[in-house]
Formats: sequence, C-alpha cells, structure tokens
Amino acid sequence: MQTQKILILGNGGREYALGLSLAQDSRVEELYFAPGNGATWLLGKNITYNDNHELVRLCKQLGITLVVVGPEEPLTNGVSDVLRDNDIKVFGPSAKAAQLEGSKAFMKDFATRHHIPTARYIKSSDFEEIKAFIATLTPPIVLKADGLCAGKGVIIAKDCNEALENTQKMLSGELFGDAGKILVVEEYLDGFELSVFALSDGKSCLVLNPAQDHKRLLDNDEGPNTGGMGAYTPTPMCDDTLFEEIKREIMQRAIDGMARDGMPFCGVLFGGIMVVRREGRLVPYLLEFNVRFGDPECEVLLPSLETPLLDLLCVDDLESLEVRFKPTYNVGVVLASQNYPYGKSTPKPIFIRDFENTLGHIAFAGVELDTRYQSLDSKSHTPITLSDIQNGALLASGGRVLVCVGVGQSLELARKNAYKIAESICFEGMQYRRDIAMRGIRFLDSQGL
Ligand code: AMP
Ligand code: GLY
Repeated sequence: MQTQKILILGNGGREYALGLSLAQDSRVEELYFAPGNGATWLLGKNITYNDNHELVRLCKQLGITLVVVGPEEPLTNGVSDVLRDNDIKVFGPSAKAAQLEGSKAFMKDFATRHHIPTARYIKSSDFEEIKAFIATLTPPIVLKADGLCAGKGVIIAKDCNEALENTQKMLSGELFGDAGKILVVEEYLDGFELSVFALSDGKSCLVLNPAQDHKRLLDNDEGPNTGGMGAYTPTPMCDDTLFEEIKREIMQRAIDGMARDGMPFCGVLFGGIMVVRREGRLVPYLLEFNVRFGDPECEVLLPSLETPLLDLLCVDDLESLEVRFKPTYNVGVVLASQNYPYGKSTPKPIFIRDFENTLGHIAFAGVELDTRYQSLDSKSHTPITLSDIQNGALLASGGRVLVCVGVGQSLELARKNAYKIAESICFEGMQYRRDIAMRGIRFLDSQGL
C-alpha cells in the first residue's frame, strides 16, 4: 500500500480514536482533522472548511488520499458522494445509503422488506391512525421522530395517555421540529442492548467484536439518555451462537439488501441491537442502524484491533481480508462536564496526573486549548509540552470531555485500569458513571466464570 495522507472529519472522541490508531501506522504520512478538537493536533493538523466545494479543493491541495467521515450529518448531506465524484477516496456511505440513519421510517421499511427482525411498528403523520395502532400495543410505548435529532428523538412513554400527548407534540413540531412530524411508533422490546459494527465494501462485511454502550447518565441505568457514558468490548453477554445470528440475519442481510435496492453500503454500519428472551432463547432485534462508528464504542473497539485500521478503511475488497483482535478487554469511561446532557458548561482547565503504570490511554473529545496556547498551536505542533497538557492547557469545553480507556486481560482488570485513569484526572464539575462494564462482569459472575 502506498503511504497515505488522511483527513478525518469530525471533532469528537471517536475522531480522536480514529486518529490515534492511524497515527501509529507507519504508512500514514500525514494526518489532518477537520475541524478536530483541542487535542487532535497532538496527532495531526487541524484544518477547517466551510462547504463541500471547499473541502474538495482542500483535499486536492493537500494531496489527501483518504477521507474518513466520523459523524452522520456530513454523510446524510452527501459528503461521500461529492468526494467520490471528484475522485477522492472516502470511507463513508453515500447520502442514499446514509438514509438508514437519516430516516427511521426508511430504516424500518427497509428492515421489513428484507426480513430483518425489528419491533412491530407504524410510520405515520396521522393522529387517528397512530392512536389506533397505540391501542394494539402493551405499554411502555416507543415513539421515534423520523429525522435526525442529534441522538434525541426517542420517547418511551409509560402509558397510552403519555404516548398520545407526545404524539400530538411531535406532529405539531413542538418537540423535534420538522424531524418529528413523521413518527415511527413501535412496540417496546425488553432485553439487553448490543452495539455491533460491520465494515462493508458494499458486498461483503467484516463484523467487529460486539460492544455494549451505557446510554443513561447515572449508575444503574438511571437518569436521562445521553450520547453514551461508557462502553466496553468484547462483551461476554453475546455468545457465538447469538453473534452468528446477528451477523447473518441483521448485518449481512442489510448489506445484501442495500446492494439489491441499488444503494450499496460502503463504510461502517452500526447496528443497535436489542436481545430479547423468547421461549427460552435469546433473539436479536434491530433497534436502529447508524451509518458511522458509535461514540464511545469506537474508542474501545479500535484499540482492540490486531489488524491495522488502515487496512480495514482502505481496502476495496473486504472478502480478501480477515479481521483479528487482541486477546484483551477494553473499557471506556466517559468523563462529562457539569451540565451534560442538559446544557453547556463553562470551560474548565483539566489536570492529569501520571498514570504510566496503568494499561490504557485517554481519548480526548470535548476539549479546547486554553487561549494562552492557541496562537502557538496554529504555528507549529510542538510548543506545548506534555506537562502543559497535564496542567491545564486543555479546557473541558464540550459535554463529553474525554474517555478513559482501560485495557486488561480480563474485563475486571480493564475496568480497574479505566477507573484508575479516571481518578488521575480532574476538572471542576466532572461527572462519570461508576458502573461501566458491570453488566458484563455481573453476567460472568452469574455464569460462575
Ligand atoms: P434509538 O435511537 O432508536 O437507538 O433509540 C434510543 C434508545 O431507546 C435505544 O438505545 C433503546 O435503549 C431505546 N429504544 C429504542 N427503541 C426501543 C424499543 N423498540 N424497545 C425498547 N427500547 C427502545
Ligand atoms: N453510542 C451510540 C452512538 O454513537 O450513537
């Protein structure tokens, strides 16, 4: 493979993790982030662009050989199509294929058409039709806005009245604006969730080890939904039989279906799976598809790869490739700022004590450089020392500030390491869950493993 000049689009922990993996590959000659965050310049250069036109111009000017798209929004807006039309290699699906995430109604109709198991549902903008469907369901009742709502857009109503009240608010645009004016209403599935990622070239797919996210803000899955407060991989809750069924009946079926429907999926397909116990058997159902890596799943999955990430992102024919994993567990604990997920928080300096004897690292997300250092950063890459980084040069400025990734030979050890790293970091208002990966550990205990 020729050496690569890679541009990563996005600014979160996921993009930092992509950069961290790629920066370790000697075939990566230059690494850019657009826009990146206050720490990605440690791995490459941060650049900005205003529109797809300017992005193409920048890619040509810098000689970019691969663009890796982190978040969903540029994908649904067609960034991959524009880049491909201009002969720039890109890792990310077309706008048509990105509808799998961009429209819940599209995804549900697609799943039904291709016999992918998913919750019983109706797609509608008609109050009476929705009311009649709700009457056939046993509460709780799940209401979803059709369009993208930045990870919000799902309401789990405890009874029919609450479901009908929220239906009205969604149809009027009061709750989610235009994104909520078409609703998907579906039956509630009671089980445990898995995050499963399939890299695809449009035909075959390579499925990464299953991960588990922790979506609620507080311990024991209490409090509001968030983008994810922690993740771990692999999860012992997904045995080989279940995993094979998910690969075959959800992930590969989706890749085949997209090809058959004339919009082959190239990139990473993220299946949000609910595993339900039915007649003594574990049955996987598709909750949602996303068309990108999950965040914080990406931060724990990428360091678990034995196969170089670049091989997975660059290859045109995945069938010729095998994906290998390290025999370790990775646990990621998100440190969030004070008002997350309700609102913004005032930026606060981050202090980091040495954790050199702990196996793991930090994936930086919502951080910015203190203005004292910003002018230095734009001129060169080295004026800020590690000591500056440890002593407040970085400010916690976003909701999810960073992810402490612990690595270990067992889930328990990986978890201990992640929390050791978390305990070596402090910023005012910092909050985090104390029970990341406990679901997996309790499962192992219950099996006597
Ligand atoms: P989604 O954005 O569709 O993944 O929904 C966000 C979260 O809502 C999921 O991670 C689940 O925890 C929950 N959820 C979504 N759909 C269902 C469902 N049909 N039954 C139970 N929980 C659901
Ligand atoms: N962690 C879930 C997501 O990225 O949507």
